[in-house]
Amino acid sequence: MIAEQYKEMLNGKSVIRELSEYATARGKEIGYENVFDYSLGNPSVPAPESFKEAMIKLLTEGDAMEVHGYSPSLGIVSVKEKVAASLNRRFGMSYTFRHIFMTAGAAGAIAHAVRAVTVPGDEVLTFAPHFPEYHPYINLSGAKLKVVPADTEKFQINFAVFEEMLTDKVMAVLINTPNNPSGIVYTRETLEKLADIMKRKSEEYGHDIYLISDEPYREILFEGVEEVYVSKLYDNTISCYSYSKSLSIPGERIGYIAVNPACKDAETIVNMCGQISRGIGHNCPSSIIQLAAAETVDDTSELSVYETNMNILYDELIKLGFTCVKPGGTFYIFPKALEEDAKAFCEKAKKYDLILVPGDSFGCPGYFRMAYCIATEKVERSLPALRKFVETEYGKR
Ligand SMILES: Cc1ncc(COP(=O)(O)O)c(C=O)c1O
Repeated sequence: MIAEQYKEMLNGKSVIRELSEYATARGKEIGYENVFDYSLGNPSVPAPESFKEAMIKLLTEGDAMEVHGYSPSLGIVSVKEKVAASLNRRFGMSYTFRHIFMTAGAAGAIAHAVRAVTVPGDEVLTFAPHFPEYHPYINLSGAKLKVVPADTEKFQINFAVFEEMLTDKVMAVLINTPNNPSGIVYTRETLEKLADIMKRKSEEYGHDIYLISDEPYREILFEGVEEVYVSKLYDNTISCYSYSKSLSIPGERIGYIAVNPACKDAETIVNMCGQISRGIGHNCPSSIIQLAAAETVDDTSELSVYETNMNILYDELIKLGFTCVKPGGTFYIFPKALEEDAKAFCEKAKKYDLILVPGDSFGCPGYFRMAYCIATEKVERSLPALRKFVETEYGKR
């Protein structure tokens, strides 16, 4: 018998992927340059030269067994040392290689983190709007994802509902800042309040509540926005990082878990991740990619284009009368649709070759996401289409 659980999932294909496929098909008809494809969060700037150079050097001069052999199941020690040193330098932490576990991107990091701190049946809370893949990441581990409704005024945290939902069944809270899809960065105040409530509830329930902090957009932070390292504020934090967006290498599948040294059982959790890998088959991420990422640990791609694109789009959206919280990072913006049904709104936008993603799959109906990781020139060319869409479908505003 085949597994019904996965078979059923075939009926619920990713809306984002479907829209992206539509954009590609439409591109074949009218030229992809004429499709304003805001569907997919695929970085639009190349990886830094330093990454390419590190790869070439490893391929031409590296030891073949080291470069192409299996990596240790917990990750390459020299790589983890460089990751730890970089985090300590930047954020005043005290990680050693024993607190770092190399993973296949943030997806792999979350898959390990959730299994390390929950057993089937436990609850994990996250906040809308959230990355849609959290459903499979969490639910297929046996834990249950529960979503706290959005604070649509600022896209910070709806604390009143959070406290109600934080029952003794909750073993972990999963946050994502800077956030996909809202582009919002949680303020220090928000994070401190979150930490206070979690500490209080951990004491009340007599068990630890872990904070899983999903941080693939940590490096894409806009001017004037304070960078707060989540783990600094709450000891039981497992940071899940990915080089996918910062180095523009999502296809290389590399990231890591960093367990706060003050976290209860920190080193045990890292060692357990090696065992979890054995079960889920995500063991030993590519050796050469680990080594190359470690060489470029403090570099990023040229990320400033995302802020340029955000400003152009934000100004235009506001001019057109949209309600929209200004993003503090990432390459996403999440305005309110001009009608209640965001799916209908996004469907109409297709007539103008604007590919927008309805907020429903992010747990926030009535809103839509634009992934502006595209060339600035194309963002500018999309503005007349956006104006025409709004004026024709919703009247002059
Ligand atoms: C919020 C969030 N978490 C996790 C991931 C997965 O990251 P990766 O592709 O590095 O595994 C993504 C990817 O877009 C994301 O946006």
